[in-house]
Amino acid sequence: MLSPNTIAIIKSTVPVLEVHGTAITRRFYQRLFEAYPELLNLFNQANQKQERQQAALANAVYAAALHIDKLETILPTVRHIAHKHRSLGVTADQYAVVGENLLAAMSDVLGEAATEEILQAWAEAYGIIAGVFIEVEAELYRQAEEVEGGWAGHREFKVERKISESEQVTSFYLTPSDGGQLPVFLPGQYISIKLSIPGEKHTHIRQYSLSDAPGKPYYRITVKREDGISGNPAGKVSNYLHRDVKEGDTLLLSAPAGSFTLKAEDSRPIVLISNGIGLTPMLSMLEALAGEGRDREVFFIHATRCHDDHVQYDRVQELLEGGSKLTVCWSYSELNGGMKQSHALQKQIKPGRIDSDWLREFIPSAGASYYFCGSVPFMREVYQALKAFGVSDEDINYEFFGPAGDLTESEAKPSVGTVT
Ligand SMILES: Cc1cc2nc3c(=O)[nH]c(=O)nc-3n(C[C@H](O)[C@H](O)[C@H](O)COP(=O)(O)OP(=O)(O)OC[C@H]3O[C@@H](n4cnc5c(N)ncnc54)[C@H](O)[C@@H]3O)c2cc1C
Ligand code: HEM
Repeated sequence: MLSPNTIAIIKSTVPVLEVHGTAITRRFYQRLFEAYPELLNLFNQANQKQERQQAALANAVYAAALHIDKLETILPTVRHIAHKHRSLGVTADQYAVVGENLLAAMSDVLGEAATEEILQAWAEAYGIIAGVFIEVEAELYRQAEEVEGGWAGHREFKVERKISESEQVTSFYLTPSDGGQLPVFLPGQYISIKLSIPGEKHTHIRQYSLSDAPGKPYYRITVKREDGISGNPAGKVSNYLHRDVKEGDTLLLSAPAGSFTLKAEDSRPIVLISNGIGLTPMLSMLEALAGEGRDREVFFIHATRCHDDHVQYDRVQELLEGGSKLTVCWSYSELNGGMKQSHALQKQIKPGRIDSDWLREFIPSAGASYYFCGSVPFMREVYQALKAFGVSDEDINYEFFGPAGDLTESEAKPSVGTVT
């Protein structure tokens, strides 16, 4: 329990964190990697270079300070982060190392403004916050190991099949090398792959959503090859998987994780919206909903550049023809030559980008649950459109394919329909 005085001191630092939060977390990671270079094996360095992880950590610290007297308010955020930590293999003893460097970074950045009293209060508060994470993660580790077919740490999987889905996207069908059982996962969950790439100093860990329904004798992931654009380097893991990993090779996977999942108890209509590779968790959800044969109304909107880039188009058409209460719309920003011109298809296509007015016409703007995933600008526009319709945050579910960003920020660039 924190004393009222400590709580008051932490709250007094909220405006400072609002301004200097990212400077503190930037300094924190510099210190952390200098003191513990082995942690470069754990953290995604592309997220560091783009400062996405620094921003996500700053937001989390800010939210914790703001709600320090009622941490249960941020429990959904804690659970989201804890799932990621568990899939990465973060351990309880690493919290002390993070705490020590976070406090030192506060002191470095804030200078004399970080008085002994403030640092002491933050040391206490960090202990409480870390305690909440450690407890939630302990439970997630226990569940991952104890569920039927479950495992701790990393398990070796064989690439059973490698199927090209489009010029840039490939699916991998993975089965456990030990021939054992696979745990059932929740549609929307992901696994982490840990790779040692020949010639690279550190291991690389990346998350991939499971793109087929649970209950199959394999896990399927569907990976977009990230080409280097605008002078940035090509994506390390996605290119390695596309180029070097062959059928018969093995990969190390952590057990399924993630809180972006269908809520079993909810029978209201469900709206799924994705763009680009953000399609993958939606595919799993669609397959699961179709498999359950439940009478639940489903609206699915997917935005991609053109028909040639469209992943799993035929499979979704099959689901559509399967008689479930499914309504589908494809949004193509380029209506190009590869597209079949049938009348039925035309009715299903929204040429150009999705906008808020069109969305309001196509989906129920109340009384449903909403799930979306895709590029950050796309997600921002979908989120802001849903909020403008009056949808409450409890009904809005989303997944970032990277450290969480801020969806409430306004975005100057035209963005809906931007493809991941
Ligand atoms: C929960 C979750 C689920 C996901 N599911 C999927 C999925 O189903 N399918 C899928 O394809 N992906 C998915 N992802 C994304 C995936 O984890 C990887 O981030 C993605 O494959 C890119 O990894 P990479 O190693 O190829 O690229 P990285 O090497 O990590 O690079 C990522 C990007 O950063 C840029 N970059 C790298 N270095 C720099 C630099 N120095 N300066 C500026 N830019 C730089 C690269 O150009 C590239 O665009 C998911 C992510 C999460 C968090
Ligand atoms: C209270 C302490 C901590 C907080 C508030 C915190 C917060 C966060 C946040 C906000 C993210 C981004 C998650 C997302 O948006 O998906 C994250 C990811 C991560 N965290 Fe933590 N974390 C803490 C402790 C730790 C510890 C002790 C470790 C282990 C050294 C750790 C390692 C990681 C790693 C490796 C990632 C993924 C980074 C990436 O993908 O770039 N964290 N954490």
